[in-house]
Amino acid sequence: MTQTIPSKSLENKFIVLGVSGGIAAYKAVEVCRRLGDLGAHVAVATTQAALRFVGAATWRALSAEHIHHSFWDDPHPIPHTRLGQKADLVLVCPATARVIAAYAAGLSDDILIATLLATQAPVIVCPAMHTEMWEHPALQANIATLQARGVKIVPPGVGQLAGQDSGVGRLAEPDEIVRAALEVVASSNSLKGKKVLVTAGGTREPIDAVRFIGNRSSGKQGYALAEEALARGAEVALVATNPRELSQGINLCLVETAQELEAEVSKRAGASDIVIMAAAVADYKPVSALPTKHKKENGAPTMALEPTPDILLALGASKKDGQLLVGFAAESGDLAQNAQRKLVSKNLDMIVANDILQPTAGFDSDTNEVLIFTKAGEQQKTPIASKREIASVIFNSLEKLF
Ligand code: CTP
Repeated sequence: MTQTIPSKSLENKFIVLGVSGGIAAYKAVEVCRRLGDLGAHVAVATTQAALRFVGAATWRALSAEHIHHSFWDDPHPIPHTRLGQKADLVLVCPATARVIAAYAAGLSDDILIATLLATQAPVIVCPAMHTEMWEHPALQANIATLQARGVKIVPPGVGQLAGQDSGVGRLAEPDEIVRAALEVVASSNSLKGKKVLVTAGGTREPIDAVRFIGNRSSGKQGYALAEEALARGAEVALVATNPRELSQGINLCLVETAQELEAEVSKRAGASDIVIMAAAVADYKPVSALPTKHKKENGAPTMALEPTPDILLALGASKKDGQLLVGFAAESGDLAQNAQRKLVSKNLDMIVANDILQPTAGFDSDTNEVLIFTKAGEQQKTPIASKREIASVIFNSLEKLF
């Protein structure tokens, strides 16, 4: 069904339309036209195989500039970095199995993949291929890798494929692809001018020079939140307990203990518009840690514990006007009840609760499934989704609270 789209809503947006070699390339012609009609500057980057399906003359007529299909035959000396740096969005339509695999593996063997690797702009990938290829575990693993990195996938539909075959694998319709582009571009600026502080990972409280009290938090959800905030145009600081792959542009500070986390958070919280405490902070720490290694010959140690500061509680008590404060609740029972209690007792604007006993939502999982409660009384239950997708749901809901 065609949906009314406001005219010129892509004005001043630079969109790289990446076209790879499949019969569905003919539908990308329609996508190119529509993006241009909406005011976007569309630069087309193709693989060599794509030109066998739709020729350079067609792209030249419809796009805003010279078609990019080779490193060696381009008016710009370094075409892929220019495209990657200028892009507000890179849209790969259609995406073949090879292009998806090369992008997932970081193998820049043509101008399209090089552009994908050279960009920090949001990326949408629209796969199109035969059913057997789409369902192959290698392809699905590559799709999962891209999704975990924040790439939006517009999934293929069911219908007639090349030849006489039919099934899943058909490129999504141009309407759906253009709508996805509009959504991504709109959200990519939604936090411009805002400062976002995120914490991630489990703290480690030293027992001696070797051992610590820790927990199983991987920090993946916090990292995904920081990436999502960056993609929406925010200035992002991440205070984390463990290093992971992270986009340039996020200001990372690594800490170990609850006390260090508290110190770094309190330095930054006052100036932040949004504070998200995704870190799993240890509630207790040894009263005194041995500076050396405890030796076995000295017998089993006894350890006195004392509470750590409740960072979120303090943030809630000193919250400034207009600031949004988000807590997490990792629970193994009475999920909704416990989360709502923490929402109120810590004076939060939102709490994100997950059941750690679910294998799809537990520690170190790449996926999550959460219940979100806001101070405004909204409740939302997400399906199982990648941690990046959960981050996107959280920010969509948070932005409504501004
Ligand atoms: N939190 C914090 N400082 C602590 C403990 C927790 O800032 N010392 C924050 C966490 O980052 C999280 C929220 O408080 O956003 C809830 O943490 P959780 O461990 O689920 O709750 P607690 O308040 O510690 O209560 P309990 O352990 O009894 O569930």
